[in-house]
Amino acid sequence: MKQVLVLHYSQSGQLTEIVNNIVSSLAQGDDVELNFHEMQLEKNFPFPWKKEDFFGVFPDTFLQKKQPVKPVPQDILNKKYDLVILGYQVWYLTPSLPVSSFLKSDYAKTLFKNANVVTVSGSRNMWIMAQEKVKKHLKNLQANLVGNIALVDRHVNHISVITIVRWMFSGKKKRYLGIFPKPGVSQTDIDNATKFGPIIKSHLIQNKFDSLQENLLKHEAVKIKPFLITVDRKANIIFSKWSTFISKSSEANTKKRKILLKMFNVYLLIAIWIISPVVFVLFLLTYLLNIQKIKRQKEYYASVALLEQIK
Ligand SMILES: Cc1cc2nc3c(=O)[nH]c(=O)nc-3n(C[C@H](O)[C@H](O)[C@H](O)COP(=O)(O)O)c2cc1C
Repeated sequence: MKQVLVLHYSQSGQLTEIVNNIVSSLAQGDDVELNFHEMQLEKNFPFPWKKEDFFGVFPDTFLQKKQPVKPVPQDILNKKYDLVILGYQVWYLTPSLPVSSFLKSDYAKTLFKNANVVTVSGSRNMWIMAQEKVKKHLKNLQANLVGNIALVDRHVNHISVITIVRWMFSGKKKRYLGIFPKPGVSQTDIDNATKFGPIIKSHLIQNKFDSLQENLLKHEAVKIKPFLITVDRKANIIFSKWSTFISKSSEANTKKRKILLKMFNVYLLIAIWIISPVVFVLFLLTYLLNIQKIKRQKEYYASVALLEQIK
């Protein structure tokens, strides 16, 4: 009997629903046993978010500052797994703080050592560099990344910014003002995530994972928009400067920290609504010149490989 560990965390329930759909067919029959664990911090973040907390979590999240995690039950730690499914969401172009803290914990050292891992994310659309960070965690944990499924909000970037912010601050995954589309990953994509289960299962039963990602990609496990690679990479450089500056020059919950976070909030608005459209026009103007590079990047970010640098 194959043992599969499903690690997940979700505030709204979206990511857990995706992961549950993916693994639902694995347990049909008696050749696979599923084991679930919800990764949680000792001090959880309330959902829906208050604006102050939403921005307040930025420096620690981006800098991946480890927070205390809730203990993993002994019966989960004692087993040896043939496959680990790691479900996570992206916060500030980085795995969410509960997930990055878990990946830095001693529990992760036990659970991931020599394990085959499939990552599953449910984000707005900016997940590529977060996945690179997860790849690095897995490498440090001596795990073997064999597959990745990244589900996103498929609407236009700026529409999804408006709708997700509304969702995060209201807690309701509804159509804003009755005009905007529903936020987040569409219910159709969430329901259709069941299609990945049989693919994963056939590789698991044969204990052969080399071509798993190739097969997942045939079923649209990942869809890469080249412009978002550019934005994600550039924004990571700028977020790195902001998070280090805020973290070094202020303590959490102080007046100074609040002022700096407000400045970051204003910067984000300018970046999304003014800088990003300009970058988009430049991206289009130079598209043909960069076509080979774009092709290389698309292929790499859709894969489970980890390179120090991709040009
Ligand atoms: C603080 C915060 C920051 C986020 N930053 C990003 C981001 O950088 N990129 C992205 O695609 N989605 C981002 N999201 C959306 C999440 O990835 C996710 O889709 C959403 O929070 C729903 O996840 P859930 O399953 O935990 O409810 C962010 C959400 C939160 C709460």
